[in-house]
Amino acid sequence: MAWVIVNGKFINRTEAKVDIEDRGYQFGDGVYEVIRVYNGVMFTAKEHMDRFSRSADNIGIKLPYTQEQLRNLLDQLIDKNNLRLGIIYLQITRGTAPRNHAFPAANIIPNLVAYTKELEIPTATLHSGVKAVLTEDIRWLRCDIKSLNLLGNSLAKQKAVEHGCYEAIQHRGEVITEGSSSNILLVKDGVVITHPSNQLILKGITKDVILELCAEHRIPVEERSFTIRELEQADELFLTSTTSEVTPIVAVNARQVGRGVPGPLTRRLQSLFKQRIEAQCGSL
Ligand SMILES: Cc1ncc(COP(=O)(O)O)c(C=O)c1O
Repeated sequence: MAWVIVNGKFINRTEAKVDIEDRGYQFGDGVYEVIRVYNGVMFTAKEHMDRFSRSADNIGIKLPYTQEQLRNLLDQLIDKNNLRLGIIYLQITRGTAPRNHAFPAANIIPNLVAYTKELEIPTATLHSGVKAVLTEDIRWLRCDIKSLNLLGNSLAKQKAVEHGCYEAIQHRGEVITEGSSSNILLVKDGVVITHPSNQLILKGITKDVILELCAEHRIPVEERSFTIRELEQADELFLTSTTSEVTPIVAVNARQVGRGVPGPLTRRLQSLFKQRIEAQCGSL
């Protein structure tokens, strides 16, 4: 039996229900997190709790738990579901209220749910790399909030699928922002370049771990906007996300990146990233 959390209670997955006037369901009025679990241990749990709090705070949802209480609940969920390798999906919405665009009265009770899913490490794509397609970034201007409104991201990912690609790389005009569900980093002349974490992209936790590792190992980094042209001339390109980890991108719009195979710096960062996981969660 799969256990899920609904508003602090552990219940059977099949008994979990959402009211048709939940504001997440009607307005996408809520925020979420996806947290990786290796060996039954949450990776970068604190960073995910911090971002969850920040996202909720940004849209005026008050979390009903402290970070410690929430972490404790999620640890119990991992244990109850005997999850070794997978993810936790965690979401909170503003709550249930008669449909009205404006926020309901202040005493509305948010709806918090969490569930787990088993998920393997994507060894094949980590090894061989993936293809990507470019697409205009049509999303709103607060992409730093990990909001439930994912229609722009979803349309982008669908375009990738229709082009036989793994990811869609979004751009606002000439400037590359991020993937539909990942951050994008390029390597040029030994320097890692990635869009700054401002309101146009999600401050990816995997990307931040990579930037930390670069600092520790004296790999030069530039957090600045870069253009489609720079992307086309990159030596290496990779994407980062909780589920895709550090995935090499070997072609964009059917044109090969660098030599068309995962590059040496990408490989090095993959190996440093794996060491970081093992330091927190035990050997893989
Ligand atoms: C739009 C977007 N950007 C970036 C990321 C990567 O973030 P993280 O590394 O925290 O998973 C995600 C993850 O799902 C995402 O949806």
